[in-house]
Amino acid sequence: MDPRPIGMFDSGFGGLTVARALIDLLPDEDLVYVGDTGRYPYGPRPLDEVRRFSHEITAHLLAGHDVKMIIVACNTASAAALEELQERAPVPVIGVIEPGVRSLVSATRNGNVGVIGTVGTIGSGAYQHAVAAAEPSVQLSCAACPGFVEFVERGETDSDQVHVLAERLLAPLHDAEVDTLLLGCTHYPFLARTIGDVMGREVVLVDSADETAFRVRELLEGQLMARRGDERPGHHHFESSGDVEVFRSLGRRLLGPELDRVEAITWD
Ligand code: DGL
Repeated sequence: MDPRPIGMFDSGFGGLTVARALIDLLPDEDLVYVGDTGRYPYGPRPLDEVRRFSHEITAHLLAGHDVKMIIVACNTASAAALEELQERAPVPVIGVIEPGVRSLVSATRNGNVGVIGTVGTIGSGAYQHAVAAAEPSVQLSCAACPGFVEFVERGETDSDQVHVLAERLLAPLHDAEVDTLLLGCTHYPFLARTIGDVMGREVVLVDSADETAFRVRELLEGQLMARRGDERPGHHHFESSGDVEVFRSLGRRLLGPELDRVEAITWD
């Protein structure tokens, strides 16, 4: 049994979808979540820069919080840095790409699948590699969706404008007749209704949050690293490199009541 907390990070709020799934599945685990809102968004940044940020946050979680595991709850950071983090960190590191792909290939019926994500994620080829490795027989179509994240950050998840943008960006996936679409960006689950309307009812939308939480549980149990919750339930600690009050109010709306305090974090 390992009482140390689990570390998790994202460029901002999107990773809270993964935090929610983790808290629900593993309520006894302590969690430290870093939202790098001071440097958000990661999606349009060069991958080298996102990699540098990811190493910096990982070092902070290890040195500052002595975490037993790190979850990269951001598709762009997973695409840019996961392999390097796994090689260098002294604790297990889990990304969101592989768990999402697992859900995707198991849900498809016609073998035509789609992935949408930020420009950085789709341009990195990480999903293309992961799908080919998991199930080479499926036909994959990918689309970058610049603008989606900004709509979510403004709390605008089903306006006419986001609908028009979704129709334009998702048209190639519609034409490819995908029957399953992976929301390969942690913000996109908040747009599920708009994306579902545009793609049609018969298209199944999957995201990586639940599957990532299952993967964490598997690993904790397999390595006897779970925390015992006999004395108290898990603590949840949140840090943001941007405006902590904004993080607290929007984050609480997105995650729920567990997010009641946010500490400021600064980078050198
Ligand atoms: N969290 C990022 C992702 O999952 C989206 C937001 C950003 O661009 O920073 O790709």
